[in-house]
Order: sequence, then structure tokens, then C-alpha cells
Amino acid sequence: MTGTFDAVDVICAKRDGSPLSTEQITWVIDAYTKGAIAEEQMSALAMAVLLNGLNTDELAAWTGAMIDSGARLDLGAVERKTVDKHSTGGVGDKITLPLAPLVAACGAAVPQLSGRGLGHTGGTLDKLESIPGWRATLSNDELIGQLNDVGAVICAASSELVPADRKLYALRDVTGTVQSIPLIASSIMSKKIAEGCGALVLDVKTGTGAFMKDTDQARLLAKTMVELGQAHGVETIALLTDMSTPLGYTAGNALEVAESVEVLAGGGPADVVELTLALAREMLNQAGITGIDPADHLANGKAMDTWRSMIRAQGGDPDAKLPRANEVHTVTADRDGVVERLDAYAVGIAAWRLGAGRARKEDPVSPGAGVVWHARPGDRVRAGQPLFDLHTDDAARIPAALAALDGSVVFGEHHQPSSVVIERVTAS
Ligand code: URA
Repeated sequence: MTGTFDAVDVICAKRDGSPLSTEQITWVIDAYTKGAIAEEQMSALAMAVLLNGLNTDELAAWTGAMIDSGARLDLGAVERKTVDKHSTGGVGDKITLPLAPLVAACGAAVPQLSGRGLGHTGGTLDKLESIPGWRATLSNDELIGQLNDVGAVICAASSELVPADRKLYALRDVTGTVQSIPLIASSIMSKKIAEGCGALVLDVKTGTGAFMKDTDQARLLAKTMVELGQAHGVETIALLTDMSTPLGYTAGNALEVAESVEVLAGGGPADVVELTLALAREMLNQAGITGIDPADHLANGKAMDTWRSMIRAQGGDPDAKLPRANEVHTVTADRDGVVERLDAYAVGIAAWRLGAGRARKEDPVSPGAGVVWHARPGDRVRAGQPLFDLHTDDAARIPAALAALDGSVVFGEHHQPSSVVIERVTAS
């Protein structure tokens, strides 16, 4: 017994399918954050939640207790409407980079507290850290100042925000309890709600390269998160988007920065532009900003001006040459045909094996490493034409990346074009 309740009683109740009371949940999250509940007890509880779920009241209490485990960010001194975006992560997902300055150029304040990548999807901070001089850590005063001056900030979340999640996510990672919709929804939404934004747009991905591969499960996760956001007074909607094909033509840190700058210059890959604009329109709508078409601010250079100010404000040089990997190995097509499928997961694993991602939290990433693909679904290629360029600082990594890409391109004669955005998910 460690205080008001007995951890074993709480575990057994959830194991046996009984709902937990708000008091039990508040106690268990608080005691775990303070180290008063053993890791093995929390892992048993996480497994019981994975197997038996949480009902709406339990989920609200669990999320509230996670938020209360740390400090909330106070954005009260920000003069513009605040709106944030969260993506569940995908391959080549560089959308935050053009999106945050674009939405700021349209008049909102975008505090984008981001993370580093783990596994086959890259992290936004890793991408931006490939820009010489750019720093991810800001004090709260710097963050508020930059939101008022520039309108957009992409930086690391403070360690005071939702400390319960840092412990619990690490525990779930090693106990097979990540894939639980209530645990994922409370983990993501507690951090987003604690950030103090007035509105939020979620990009929930589905497909081979997504964290939630099954579309019905992704839809349920989206709905659960939207309802949690609304219940906490944050105007929240979600777009369910396709991640069976990687976004754009690049996966890797500096490679993705360069592609994002192309979008900000009014060009860039059609799918990256489509998703950036779809999310920007939703964010502006959520923030109550009307009468502005974000496409205009990509075309007229205003989003690019905001990007440059945002990078400079965090010590970066927007004109500096981006790092390039030492080795580039090209893979060519062995036949003629139309690309029907380009598998996002395979591309993500290849980029990771080339050095763009990390296997453990403390590993470094290689800023220049990654994959560039030259054909997307719908493109006709001829035998001998380049399909992929593999960028790495260590040639010994190439065979493992090639193995990941084996079978990743499926050729046919026809391709049915489809939109990146599958559907819009709102609260019921
Ligand atoms: N991302 C998070 O922040 N939490 C989860 O549980 C899963 C993905």
C-alpha cells in the first residue's frame, strides 16, 4: 500500500474488467510519476488497459491526471490566436516545416513543440538541426517572444510538460503496450492540451508507413483524440491521411529541409503541397481566421519570409549550405512500367538504416543521410532509369538499405490517382 489506494487492487480491478474511479486513476498516475509505484506494477496496469480499454470517463480522468503531472504552458501573453498541429508520424513527413510559417504568415500563432525521431519515422527537431546554428531549446519567455514577433516557433517541449508521459511511454515501449488507443490518445492529447493552444488540428496517418496501419483503428484513434481535445476546451479536428506512399520525394533530415524550402518557394511535390494546404486551411478555420487563402502566401513569398525569420530567431542561418552525405548510391529500374505502389515503410526503414534515424533515444543522427526517390505511383519509368538515390556517410550501411527496399516498388500498367486526405474527423 502506497497511500490512498493499493496498486495491486487497481491492477486487479482493470484486469477483471471493472472501471476505475477518477480517484484511483488520479492516484495511480501521480504515484507512478513520483516513483511510488514500481515499474512492474505500472507495466501490468498498462497491459490490463491495453486488453480491457478505458471507458470515456476513465479516459478523461487518465488524460487529466497526465496533464496534472507537470506544468501547463501559459500562452496568455500571445497576442494572436494560437493553433497547433500534431501528426502521428510518417515517412517523408516534413509538413510541419512549411506549415508552421505558412499559418503564421496568415495571421495565427503556431507553437509547434516537437520531438526527435525514433525508429523509421523522422523527428521534426532532427530535420531542423541539420540547419547550421539552429537550436531546438527555448525558454518560455523566448517562446512567447518569438510567437509575438514571428508568429511561429518549432522547438523542443520542456521536460516540465507531462512528465508522467515521458516515464509511461518509455515503459510502454519495452512492454508491448504502445498499441492501445486510450493510451496513445491520452499520451498525445495530454501533451497537446498542456501546451495551452486554443485550437488543434490532428494529422492521423494510416497505411504501411504509419504508426497505426489499419484505417479503422486510425479513424477510431482520430475520433478519440478529437473528443478528448473538445472535452478539454481545445477546438480539435482531425484529418485521416494516407501513409502507404511516402510524402514527397525525400526521407532524411537535410534532404527534407531542402524539399520543404521548395514548397515555401512556391514549388515542391504536389502531395506535400496538397497536405500542407489542407492542414493550413483547417488550422486557420479552427483559429477563426477567414478570408485568407494560404496558397496565396506560398505563391507570394510571405510564408518563405516567415520561415527565414523563424530559423534566424533560433540561431539558424536560412542561407547556409545544408549538410550532404559522403556517399550516394543509385538504384535503377530493371524494367519498363508504371509505378503502382511505392511502399512507405520500406523507404522509412531504408532511410533509417542509412543513418537518418536512431534506434535508441541517445543515438546521434546523420544530417545528410536518407533516401531520394525519383518516381512516385503513377509515373512511367524505363529500364535503367534511376529509382532511388541512397545518401549515407557510411558505405557499409548501403546493403541493409538495399535489402529494405527490395520489393518496395510494384510495377503495373495502370495507377488510380488518389488524394492524400482520406477524410475529415470531427467530434460526434
Ligand atoms: N506518440 C505519442 O506521443 N504517444 C504514443 O503513445 C504514441 C505515439
